[in-house]
Amino acid sequence: MVSDLLIYNIGTLITSKEIELSNKNLMENIEILTDAYVAIKNGTILLLGEGPYDKNIIDNKTILIDAEKSVVTPGLIDSHTHLVHGGSRENEMFLKAKGATYMDILNAGGGILSTVKATKEATKEELVEKAKISLKKMLAFGVTTIESKSGYGLDLETEIKQLEVNKILANEQPIDIVSTFMGAHAIPKEYKGKEEDFIKKVIKMLPIIKDKNLAEFCDIFCEHGIFSIEQSRKILKEAKKFGFKLKIHADEIESIGGAELAGELETTSSEHLMAISDEGIIALKNNGVIANILPGTSFYLKKEYAPVRKMIDYGVQIALSTDYNPGSCPTENLQLIMQIAALYLNMSPIEVIKAVTINGAKSLNKEKQIGSIEIGKKADLVIFNSKSLEYILYHFGINHTKMVIKNGDIVYNN
Ligand code: NIG
Ligand code: FE
Repeated sequence: MVSDLLIYNIGTLITSKEIELSNKNLMENIEILTDAYVAIKNGTILLLGEGPYDKNIIDNKTILIDAEKSVVTPGLIDSHTHLVHGGSRENEMFLKAKGATYMDILNAGGGILSTVKATKEATKEELVEKAKISLKKMLAFGVTTIESKSGYGLDLETEIKQLEVNKILANEQPIDIVSTFMGAHAIPKEYKGKEEDFIKKVIKMLPIIKDKNLAEFCDIFCEHGIFSIEQSRKILKEAKKFGFKLKIHADEIESIGGAELAGELETTSSEHLMAISDEGIIALKNNGVIANILPGTSFYLKKEYAPVRKMIDYGVQIALSTDYNPGSCPTENLQLIMQIAALYLNMSPIEVIKAVTINGAKSLNKEKQIGSIEIGKKADLVIFNSKSLEYILYHFGINHTKMVIKNGDIVYNN
């Protein structure tokens, strides 16, 4: 078969296909080819390999791309973002510099609640336009799939508005968007002291969101002072009944057993985990829950980093994401997150790449379609401006992307 597009002269092709290795580190068990090529047909991977390609896979219509010996990876996956929101919160940065904590600001009606206000006030069109600007930046950093949560509405109308923005965006720009309903992101002011009523309200939203086919996942902010373990269990169990797959913001600030709950409910992923307990690590491992680590949030909130080396030693699979949101991590730059992970989580280059490709796909339950360069999978790839993966992690704060290919089309070309 003849390809539509062929990338040749690839120095290092990290396919992220999981392979058996004698190395026991199951975060490094991915395939890396050298002097390689990838052929694409109809938006999917047709063929790949090392050495010279068979001349029969090209004709005079095939687009040929010389990778000039650089690094090529699967399209990066940012599997945890709060993309759709109104406003920004630069004022909080300077309140924090004067000693206020993230929780102090939230308890005073700021934080998430101030973004809720801005999101309610914004029209759907305004939210689309704002999010589109962010998506354009993400694409430039090599991201071809993201997850996008609601949770800045906390009422049915605004939650639906946010999720409908995801749907519109999915049709208007190249990045694939996986939607998550996170109605339980904070307790609205008017429900202070009536938390159980708010939980009932969120539970009532679940079938409506599902009927409208607006979200695949349900997530919750399980944290001391936000939603307790019992409340989180209640909401997530109901969500499961209505057909949602589950995620949980767990042990971000305090260790309250959120990861243990993730294990108990067999959630697809568990997020943050900066304060995870040893029991929590075992619960993730034993139940195949992906640990979705967001080191940009630790960096920005000046908090502990999640104990990733310990998790890897226990055999937990790690994904890395931005957590892009206006409060705890205002950046769309997944490459920066990868660099922070290499520096502060002491992850190896291969572990970092695995975490933003095949493991990002697993944390979205999409590992059959995306996350690795394998025959039949979506042709989502990044060509970097670098001949080594190490260099991409070392030279921080810049954009290393040369070209992004999404569903077989060149969508970014630097
Ligand atoms: O993942 N932890 C809860 N939610 C977000 C922050 C949201 C915000 O501050 O607006 C997070 O860090
Ligand atoms: Fe988050």
